[in-house]
Amino acid sequence: MREVAIVGLGCTKFGEMWDKSFRDLFIEAGLMALEDAGMSGAQVEALYGGNMSSGIFIQQEHVGALIADYSGLISNNVPSTRVEAACASGGLALRSGIIAVASEYHDIVISAGIEKMTDIGAEKAMDALAAAADREWEAAVGATFPGLYAMMARAHMHEFGTTREQLAQVAVKNHYHGSMNPRAQFRNRITIDSVISSPLVADPLRLFDCSPITDGAAAVVLVPAERAREFTDTPIYVKAASQASDTISLHDRRSLTSIDATTVAADRAFKTARLERSNIDVAEVHDCFTIAEIMAIEDLRFFEKGRGGPATLAGDTAIGGKIPINTSGGLKACGHPVGATGIKQAVEIAEQLRGDAGKRQVEGAEIGLTHNVGGTGGTVVVHILAR
Ligand code: COA
Repeated sequence: MREVAIVGLGCTKFGEMWDKSFRDLFIEAGLMALEDAGMSGAQVEALYGGNMSSGIFIQQEHVGALIADYSGLISNNVPSTRVEAACASGGLALRSGIIAVASEYHDIVISAGIEKMTDIGAEKAMDALAAAADREWEAAVGATFPGLYAMMARAHMHEFGTTREQLAQVAVKNHYHGSMNPRAQFRNRITIDSVISSPLVADPLRLFDCSPITDGAAAVVLVPAERAREFTDTPIYVKAASQASDTISLHDRRSLTSIDATTVAADRAFKTARLERSNIDVAEVHDCFTIAEIMAIEDLRFFEKGRGGPATLAGDTAIGGKIPINTSGGLKACGHPVGATGIKQAVEIAEQLRGDAGKRQVEGAEIGLTHNVGGTGGTVVVHILAR
């Protein structure tokens, strides 16, 4: 296997993009990434596109071909593959592209992610997302994603004494980070009181504990590390691309308060990268709900089990803290176009490592991590990137 580098980055603004179609969004992100790499589309050898549910959100399937067609790459008949792993579709598209380049099958690959979620109502969107759970044993009996994560939150509060304020502080911190991100869906700062008094969604989770429904796309250009300097002065090297699976149903898990696939994927990634947790300067983790970030920073072993809440309240995960988490604003404030999220996480970390993150720059960041979860943890993808 050869080393892989990211040489081009593209990401649209996230939000309710009613003036842009599905194809407008992925073309915008792809062109940005190609332009950033100083490359033409004719040089691209393969496409991997993360997308969870375009069949329900925009009644369009076969999006691999659609992406190749509308990006103009069909003239080269490039192989274009849709990758689906629920909310981890983007992370998996990134890992698929990395494997294609690392294995010497292709030299220049675009890994992208796209979701257009706001063209249908919230109720239908929530049902589309519920398809990432076990439809027969969870979704069909009303266990929506807010409901499933609410059960995890209650269990975590019971087992470790995690408080309502600690959960709220995840959202407060991520809205603060998002306020400095021009791409973020929500750029308003909020307080613990406003989280706790926002409308109840699934007890104990309230509106401001939830990631929103979002449109957006992101793309990265991957090349062999030895060719990276042909395209950029600031290549970002892939040190590990790791994936783990677990039961699709929450009720079949060993624990309600840990996502074991996160720990397994992270252990594999750190072993491949020959790095320690303490080497990570900045991380983007999957905060689809506030409890999800607390569990992620524990299961990634940045903090001991049960200490994620207190560490968040103490400011350890904010920019300037021990390990800044979700400098983009995370899924909570930057937004969560499910198929695009894993790629956006890589774009954010790459910008941090290039020193291009503007007001939200983590000083001296050299090594970063991304953590992307499908469903309640049936799929987890972890990447470690270095400058
Ligand atoms: N955080 C902050 N504000 C939010 C928000 C969120 N997550 N979701 C919506 N809002 C705001 C809207 O901007 C709107 O504000 P406005 O009135 O000032 O314009 C207001 O709240 C109402 O928005 P609306 O779209 O009517 O909300 P909704 O009730 O239809 O949906 C949720 C809210 C929480 C149910 C929806 O965002 C949701 O389902 N989130 C979870 C998504 C999910 O499960 N993703 C997969 C995770 S694995």
